[in-house]
Amino acid sequence: MDERTVRPVEGATADLADGFHDVDSTGTARDFIAYLRKAEQSESGRVVREATYRPLEGVSGKGADIGCGTGRTVADLGRLGKDVVGVDSSQAMVDAAVTRFPHCRFVKGDALALEFGDAELSWYRAERVFVHFHDPTQALSEASRVLKPRGTIVMADPDLDSMVLSSRFPKTTKAVKDAFCSAIPNPHAGTRNAAHLTHSGFTDIEVTPVMVTMSDYASAFHLMVEPALTAALAQGEISQEAAAEWTSDLHDLSRRAAFTAATTFFVTTARVRG
Ligand SMILES: C[S@@+](CC[C@H](N)C(=O)[O-])C[C@H]1O[C@@H](n2cnc3c(N)ncnc32)[C@H](O)[C@@H]1O
Repeated sequence: MDERTVRPVEGATADLADGFHDVDSTGTARDFIAYLRKAEQSESGRVVREATYRPLEGVSGKGADIGCGTGRTVADLGRLGKDVVGVDSSQAMVDAAVTRFPHCRFVKGDALALEFGDAELSWYRAERVFVHFHDPTQALSEASRVLKPRGTIVMADPDLDSMVLSSRFPKTTKAVKDAFCSAIPNPHAGTRNAAHLTHSGFTDIEVTPVMVTMSDYASAFHLMVEPALTAALAQGEISQEAAAEWTSDLHDLSRRAAFTAATTFFVTTARVRG
C-alpha cells in the first residue's frame, strides 16, 4: 500500500494485525519480515529495543530472545557479550535471521513449549511478542519453568489504546484504532503484562513506559497506519471513502510539518521467585 492510496481489502498486504502469531501459515512471510525490518530501522524501534537492553546489563549466564524475528537483538546482545540464543516459531523468521547474522544462534521453537530444560536460562527477553498471544499466562508459565530461581524476564509491548494521531477526523481515527485492537490477540499487553507476571508467581516487577513518537506520515504509515487501516477495512468498520479522506488528511498534515503520532510501549521486568 502506498501511503497516499488506499488499496481494496482484497489486495491488502499481509494482515499484520493478526498474522504474527503464526507467520508461516499466512503464506506472506516476506511481508512480515519486511515489516520487522522497517520497524528495526526506525527511530522508535531503536528506542524500544535499547530500553530492553538496560535491565539486562548486570545479568550474566545463558539467555534467550523469544520471538526474535529477524534477529537484530540477538546480534546486538551477542556483541554486548551475552550468551544468547534467538527462538522464533516461524521458520521463515529463523531463516531470515540466520542469513543476516550467520555467526549467531537461532532455533525454531514455540514460546508455549520451549526446548530448554527446567531452570536452564538466566534471562528471557520478548519484545512485541506477548501482544500476539491469546493466552499470555501459558507463555509465562513456560518462561518461569525455563528460568533459574531469581532469573530475569524482560518484556516490551505496546498498549494499542495509547495510539494517537494528529488527525482532523478523530471519529475515523477511533474506528481504525478500535478495529486494530480487536484484530490483535492481546492489544493491551503493555499494561497487562505486570498483572500476568504477578499471577504467574514472578516478583520484583517493574514497569517503564516508553513513548515512541513519529513526526512524519511516511514512518507512521508503515509502522502503525497501514496495519490498523487494513484491519479496519477488512472488518468493514470504515468505508474506502472515509479511509481515503483520513489518509489524505494525514498526508497533508505531514506535508505542512503538522503531523504527530505516538504509541506507548511498556518495558516490564520481573524475576522468578528465589
Ligand atoms: C512482532 S514480531 C517481533 C519480533 C522481534 N521481537 C522484534 O521486536 O523485532 C513477533 C515475533 O514473534 C514470533 N512468534 C509469534 N508467536 C510465537 C510463539 N508462540 N513462539 C515463538 N515465537 C513466536 C513471530 O514469528 C514474530 O517473529
